[in-house]
Formats: sequence, structure tokens, C-alpha cells
Amino acid sequence: MNPVEIIIKKRNGAELVASEIKFFVEGYLTGNVSDYQMSAFLMSIYFKGMTPLETSTLTDIMLHSGKVLDLSDIKGIKVDKHSTGGVGDKTSLIIAPIAAAAGVPVPMISGRGLGHSGGTLDKLESIPGFRTDLSIYEYIKSLKKIGAVLIGQTEEIAPADKKIYALRDVTGTIESIPLICGSIMSKKLAEGIDGLVLDVKTGIGAFMKTYEDSEKLALNLKSIADSFSKKTIAFITLMDQPLGNAVGNWLEVVESVECLRGKDVPDLMEISLNLSGAMIYLGGKASSIEEGIEISKDLINSGKAYRKFLEIVDNQNGDISYIENLEKYPKSKNVIEVKAKTSGYINSINAFEIGMVGIELGAGRMKHDDAIDPKAGFLFNKKVGDYVNKGELLVKVFTDKNEIDPSDDGLLRVEKSFMINAKKPEKIPIIRKIIN
Ligand code: URA
Repeated sequence: MNPVEIIIKKRNGAELVASEIKFFVEGYLTGNVSDYQMSAFLMSIYFKGMTPLETSTLTDIMLHSGKVLDLSDIKGIKVDKHSTGGVGDKTSLIIAPIAAAAGVPVPMISGRGLGHSGGTLDKLESIPGFRTDLSIYEYIKSLKKIGAVLIGQTEEIAPADKKIYALRDVTGTIESIPLICGSIMSKKLAEGIDGLVLDVKTGIGAFMKTYEDSEKLALNLKSIADSFSKKTIAFITLMDQPLGNAVGNWLEVVESVECLRGKDVPDLMEISLNLSGAMIYLGGKASSIEEGIEISKDLINSGKAYRKFLEIVDNQNGDISYIENLEKYPKSKNVIEVKAKTSGYINSINAFEIGMVGIELGAGRMKHDDAIDPKAGFLFNKKVGDYVNKGELLVKVFTDKNEIDPSDDGLLRVEKSFMINAKKPEKIPIIRKIIN
């Protein structure tokens, strides 16, 4: 087979057969298909889409590009959660320890930052020493010992996603339902789960900007999970403004730790408690999501969820002294305060813009081998619905860079991402739908 012929076939909108998709994905892993050919292939999928049959074939081929783990000798219903990606979305760090503390084994394979959105792996790796590259042996051993383990795609598990994901990040080929389905479900099905909670984001800071597209993605993901007999609950949640107050890898670890110690960050905790409640329910430790939410709250109040987080960090070689003493972490060279130019209600904060400026600050990558500055990011002082006086602090920006790209003036972009208006905005429920 010739890669160019397959690219042209997809570019012209025809349906590919399994052998063609297999040739392309496997060829990319062995080096017979180059980065530029894969980029063109991904872009053709982005524009022409894939049929349901092509999407499930792609997922299956990506899944079997590595090992599919069997965790049946570990007691309990193993449940994971995956988000389709957002800004300030740190729920995995909060809910994995909660569910594990409730007795639900959580095997979690996550990704790095993708486009404007952050990634769980980059957040975890901001903790000094934290290892996300465990071997299969270490992964299974950790799950048995601690009840939760958080790693990335490896050469052994979901290697096709590892390589394609990094390429999509820097080639503008992320926002595609079949590519997102293949990426998410290949990782999730490989990790040995029995159940899955999906957090499908919708809005300007999500990959699916409209509710209709988000629902379509949720239904596609769920139908793939169903076809593999995995119990699945999908949430569709708002991603218009950043989630919580912190954006940026270490800043998000800090916020997650504070929430695990009992701080209430309303939007972040509403979603986190629903997701952990659903995990506990799917894991058979509660008779409903609501009961799972109450169990989650108790585990936070008793300190058990926080202690489980420390155990997870310690087990994966992270230095827990940075978690116990958050002030110990190095500080950014520059902290810039962005203040309101007018008084009024914050009507919106453009999460996409914040994510894009975050990359410029050093919190994400422009090229796939770029190093991340774990300290870079934002701390929001005001969120949508808050009243702000002229001159009041909106957000603090953290960076080691002396100037954020002067050609498009990142700080101005941050300021412009706030829409301030005399009228108080209507409150829209953050959880738009639960597909159970
Ligand atoms: N999360 C993933 O793992 N993959 C995607 O493509 C998008 C979000």
C-alpha cells in the first residue's frame, strides 16, 4: 500500500477499509509513514470525518497497537474518568484519590496538554520526582497497593495514541470527533477498566464548541465503550470560562491539594463531586451518583482523600514535602497583575484565549519537544458573575518570560478575554446533561 493513495482517498471523502487504517497507524509506529504523511492524513480526517465503522476500526487498531491489560485478578470494579479537555480542568487530581479512598480501584492513563487545553500528565510531572512512565509491572503493583495509579501512554500501552496525540497537538488536528474517540478510547480500553466516567466539555474552551457537537461526541464515546461492554456514564459540562481559579500545571496541583484539604472552589468542586460520585457508583460502592457525592464529601472532610493523594504521589516517586508544604515550590520570576479597566459584572472569560496565552507563558507546548515551565499560568481573582470595580485585580499572571510575545501582546489578550458589563449574567448550570 502507498500512504499517499490512502491520504488522497480520505482527502476525497471516501470510506477507508480496515487494512488501510491499519497500514497507516502501524506504519506510523514503525517509521514507514512519516510525520508529514501522518499530519496530512489527520488533516484529511479533520475535514472529511469518518463513518462510525471507520471510527470504531481506528479505535480498535489504536487500542491493539500495544498491550490490552487484564486486571481481573485485582479485586473490585475498576473505574476511570476521562475528560475531553479544557482549561483549568484538574478534576482527575481530585477525584482519583477520592474514588480510591472509597475503595474503587482507579487505573488511569492520561495525556499531556493538547492544544489550548492542559493535560493531567504535565500537571502531575510538575510535582518534583513524580513518575508517569511506570512499566506495566509497576502500574499493576501500584494499583494493587495504593488503589490508584496515574500514568501516560507508553511504548507498551496505547503507543499509537502517544505518538499521534503529540503530533495532533502541534498540527491543528485536535477538534475531530473520530480522532478524539480513537485517542480517548484506545487509552481507556487498554488500561483494564470495567467502568468509565466521561466528562465531555462544551463551550469556547472545549474542543467541541457547540452543545450539539459535544452531545454527538459524548454519544460516540459512549457507544464505543458500550460495544466493549464497559459501564459508562457521560457528563456534558460547561467549559466557557476556566474551571476553578488556577490554570497552569503547578498552580493546578496547588488548587487540587487545597480542595482535597476541604477548600470549596464552587465550579470545580461541583464537577469534581459529581464525577467522583459517578465513579463510586459505577464502582459498586454507592447505590446512586447522589450517594457517591455524599461519600466523596465525607472522604474529603475526614482527610482520607487528601491522605490517599499523598500516598499516590509518594508511590510514584513524587516528593510529598512539596505537597505538605506548598510554599516550598520555586516561584515565577514575574507575577503580573491584570486589573479591570471598567466596573461591572464579569459576563464571560474566554477560556480558549487563556489557554492559548498560557502556552506563550510556558505552560504548554508550541512544538512537541518544547519544555514546560510548571510554574507558569494564571490565578483568577474574579469569575463569571462576580462584580468588579475599576482597577480591581482580575487575574495574576505567572511567568519566567520577561515579555509575553510582543507581536500579539499576551497580556492584552488576557485583559480582553474578560467581558465586563453592567448587566449581571444569567447563571447557567455547569452540568448540562448526564447520559447514564
Ligand atoms: N483527550 C484525549 O485523550 N484525546 C483527545 O483527543 C482529546 C482529549
